[in-house]
Formats: sequence, C-alpha cells, structure tokens
Amino acid sequence: MKIDFPQAVNEAPIELSSHTMTEIQRVMDLFPKGKQKSAILSILHLVQDELGWVSVGAMNRVALILDIQPIEVYEVATFYTMFHLNAVGKNVLEVCRTGPCQLVGSDDLIDYIEEKLEIKVGETTKDGMFTLKTVECLGACGYGPMLMCKYQFYERLTKEKVNEMLDAMREASK
Ligand code: FES
Repeated sequence: MKIDFPQAVNEAPIELSSHTMTEIQRVMDLFPKGKQKSAILSILHLVQDELGWVSVGAMNRVALILDIQPIEVYEVATFYTMFHLNAVGKNVLEVCRTGPCQLVGSDDLIDYIEEKLEIKVGETTKDGMFTLKTVECLGACGYGPMLMCKYQFYERLTKEKVNEMLDAMREASK
C-alpha cells in the first residue's frame, strides 16, 4: 500500500480495545525507560491481531502511544511483509517465493492457489475468506514449498494438501 504522506498524518488515530491497550502497556514495560520505541514491532502485531490489518489510523495511534512521529511507524509497518496494510480476508495465505522454495515448486503452488481461489496475488476472495500474498523466506527452507497462515506453517505442499488445507480453513472460519 502506498501511504499518502503528509495527508496520512492528519487521519484520526483509531481507538484500540482495552485488552490491546493493556497488552501494549505490558510490552512497553519490558523495555528500559526511554527505550519504549523498541516495542514497535510487538505493538504492531498486537494491533493487527485486534483489527486484522494495520490501517493508517492504527499507525497514527501507535505513534501517539510511543510518542514518536507517525512517519517512524509508517517506515516500520511498510518494511515488513507480515503487516497487512489493507483489509484482508479471514485467512491470509502467505506463500514463500524465495529461492529454495522456488526450486521445489512455489511458483506452481502460487499458480494453483490463484486458479483454485480465482484471485491473483494481493487479492481477497469475494466471500472474504482468503487473501493470497507472497513473502520472502519464512525460515522453513527445507520444507518447501510452504506457506504461513495465522502463524501456522503448512509445509511440503502439494495440490492435494492445498485442497485439504483450504477446506479445513473454510470449515474453521464458519
Ligand atoms: S526459502 Fe522458503 S522458507 Fe526459506
């Protein structure tokens, strides 16, 4: 997502739940006084866990919490692929496309998922059930082709395994 700066800084910071705010405070307290900015990745994860994605309004809230400039949050959130900067489906399929996974068929896997779900990389199915993304190495290079969804790894994927995985996710998301 392209952030329309400086217009973005004027977007109202969104409210977060009291549960998320408590967790954010707990994480910030782990760092020495004056070094709370180091909690930014954990905080962005907490925000995404609550909202499903990280909007500009959410990033502006994080900037207020950490008492830093919004651009400092945008820099971090846009650098890492694990932060979703647009609304996503219930299940975000993050397929590794880096060399070792590519050598064992990640391109074919991506093509198959695109065909099966009738979406392209970066898109969400009409029913809001799946979003397909590609990411760089997830650290499971010996188990490719693989993808991650909801912090869980699905490894050595075949078409059959993908079919089973998608059915199970649909069932679990009902
Ligand atoms: S290359 Fe795919 S997990 Fe490392």
